[in-house]
Amino acid sequence: MIGIFDKEELKYLLQLRGAEQQSLLERARITRDKTVGNSCYLRGLIELSNYCCKDCLYCGIRKGNKNITRYDLSDQEVFSAVQYAFDNGYGSVVIQSGENTSASFIRRITSLIDHIRKNYGNNLQITLSLGEQSEDTYQRWFDAGASRYLLRIESSVPSLYKQIHPQDRLHQYSCRISALQNLKRIGYQVGTGVMIGLPFQTTEILAEDLLFMQRLDIDMCGMGPYLEHRETPLYEYRSLIPSLSERFSLSLNMIALLRLMMPSINIAATTALQAIDKEGREKGLKAGANVIMPNITPVHSRESYQLYENKPLSEAGNSNLGLYQRIEQAGCRIAFNEAGTSAHFLNKKSHNS
Ligand code: 5AD
Repeated sequence: MIGIFDKEELKYLLQLRGAEQQSLLERARITRDKTVGNSCYLRGLIELSNYCCKDCLYCGIRKGNKNITRYDLSDQEVFSAVQYAFDNGYGSVVIQSGENTSASFIRRITSLIDHIRKNYGNNLQITLSLGEQSEDTYQRWFDAGASRYLLRIESSVPSLYKQIHPQDRLHQYSCRISALQNLKRIGYQVGTGVMIGLPFQTTEILAEDLLFMQRLDIDMCGMGPYLEHRETPLYEYRSLIPSLSERFSLSLNMIALLRLMMPSINIAATTALQAIDKEGREKGLKAGANVIMPNITPVHSRESYQLYENKPLSEAGNSNLGLYQRIEQAGCRIAFNEAGTSAHFLNKKSHNS
């Protein structure tokens, strides 16, 4: 099986189940092992704040949800989480937050990046996941020392993007695309991704999503099942979505196909997989993913960062050791103290220099 697929082939492959699906997942895993190897990189996820200026129709921390306690982590809390990541040999920390474009937020992020750079140098890569910002802001954070940025397209098909976002100037598909292009131009390693199993989503749309990521020539991907949240407008359409096990299967097939299409990118096995199956992330690794993002947010704030219902609050009640064992059982070696820069990104750079 080669890595160039057209839309019809992708539609067919996305629907594979049973033994045929297993062989697809296995091929993806073998492709990963042959190209980027079986290393699994750890990224510590810090959920900085759940204040959000956006009102995405699927998301539990949308501005319109009045039923959650809003929080901002203190600098001290962020620093302890960063130290934890360093002490545990994680290659990178991911600073994620609800969207905020205020001058004070932009300054705060810059100073957090400064602090991490000063204290850890190149031993800890900084990944940001802070939504749509101006090109200047992206540049400022890059200059301060952030090297990676995650910004999901959510759905690459404009009509579905419209159906899952409010119709106003803050939630424009074209702005999301420009943001991704700006990030690339500045020189970040860029990650994107989609939710899988959304209402109104077809396998054709998922096939389009895969082709979109290939065309955008992304360096990293994080994608996972859509999980409905009762405090969101999209909850009304829950009868239209596939079963949990179907969303799980589709997510694994998406990971496997993307690995076959883009063998040298980094692909995360996301927390949403773990919300459906307690070994979901490890199953993601077996389908070709190579990154896990353990949540290192202070425990007391985690329950307020419920993007979707039943989001796991801890490492499934397991210690790190439990997680490490399961990663190894999935056939991976844990890459402690390695940056784990996207090989795809490095290859592009060496071609251009
Ligand atoms: N189900 C699954 N993923 C979700 N996200 C937000 N809401 C949900 C949901 N209900 C994802 C989005 C966002 C990321 C931070 O969390 O894809 O980009």
